[in-house]
Amino acid sequence: MNISNHIRYVGVQDRTKHRFEGQWLLPHGISYNAYLVDGGTEIALIDTVEADFFDVFLEKVRAELGDRKIDYLVINHMEPDHSGSIALVRKYFPGIRFVGNKKTFQMVEGFYGVSTADDVEVKEGDELRVGDITLRFHLVPMLHWPETMVTYLVDEEALFSGDAFGCFGALNGAVVDTQMDVEPYFPEMERYYAAILGKYASPVQQALKKLAAQPMKAICSTHGPVWTANIPRVIETYRRLSAGETEEGVVVCYGSMYGNSQRVAEAVAEGVAEAGVRKIIVHNLSVSQPSFVLRDVFRYRGLAVGGPTYNGGLFPVVDDLLKRLAGREVSKHKLAIFGGYTWGGQAVKLIRQYNEAMKMDEVAFGADNLSALEWKQGACADVLAQARELGRALGQAVKG
Ligand code: FEO
Repeated sequence: MNISNHIRYVGVQDRTKHRFEGQWLLPHGISYNAYLVDGGTEIALIDTVEADFFDVFLEKVRAELGDRKIDYLVINHMEPDHSGSIALVRKYFPGIRFVGNKKTFQMVEGFYGVSTADDVEVKEGDELRVGDITLRFHLVPMLHWPETMVTYLVDEEALFSGDAFGCFGALNGAVVDTQMDVEPYFPEMERYYAAILGKYASPVQQALKKLAAQPMKAICSTHGPVWTANIPRVIETYRRLSAGETEEGVVVCYGSMYGNSQRVAEAVAEGVAEAGVRKIIVHNLSVSQPSFVLRDVFRYRGLAVGGPTYNGGLFPVVDDLLKRLAGREVSKHKLAIFGGYTWGGQAVKLIRQYNEAMKMDEVAFGADNLSALEWKQGACADVLAQARELGRALGQAVKG
């Protein structure tokens, strides 16, 4: 499948896996993109695919190659959704030379034990001639692992970007953005960023700065469409998310056993609406899946979070969300806290502890400038009135 004069698409579509990395739901599947770069007398393969798909991948590669051999396998990223087939590639294409950096080869050895003395170790800015064309390598550590690099095809100003600029969602026929409706991929790009890269805002920003110097006619990511006409929008999406820029809006996240915390959450949302905020999303954390919640939190400026004390700790689904947020860059948010208990209150205190890592700005509310809403046992009318007040304060804080 031709992407350009020198680039052929040999990626595969995964429509069967329920959860990427064993945890993130895939309602629209995911692609593992790999590319052949044809330099005339020599050929490089850029990345591979998950091992389960090796047979389809091999068929595609052979359809493109005929009886030609592959000279190089460029390993941009060692996470097994891309590196899973490298041992098989070495077996099926003897003589192939792997191209990676020092950390890549430590992982090639550790995961698969298949590095050889003929492999090519590269450093930042190194170039490799592949027949008539030139590949240049840029190290982008922590985007998404420490060994990660990107590869630039100088002759076509095309960037093989690894996970960067990727998204969830399998490809449905077309590969290049100009040949498809790209709109469904953008929410999935935000969900992908929040789930996979949300911890690495600073490395993403550094990589964006480094790559800004390169003219780019195509971005060939390992997940999702090949970007051409949409490059400015894609880069802006990653820039905005990694800069922590948010829209006016509030996400209310709660866990509830018997409905008291749910009634408080609903009242908080009512208060946010009374403040004039129009974009409000309420997530029952026992029902909503984490990656969708994270995507919404990354998108909107306000977060209200709460639930009951449970076994002397936080209600598990609330604890799970906060643990995930504490490991991500979300410090520019406004936070409203609520928590109930029956005989010993811990929820509010524990949410605050998580916020030491999240570093969100906690909103105060009411005449007494309360910093959180805490109640004992039932969510009575007085508690619900306070919850609306908390919501109004959060709504005001996120406006503008
Ligand atoms: Fe698509 Fe970090 O692997």
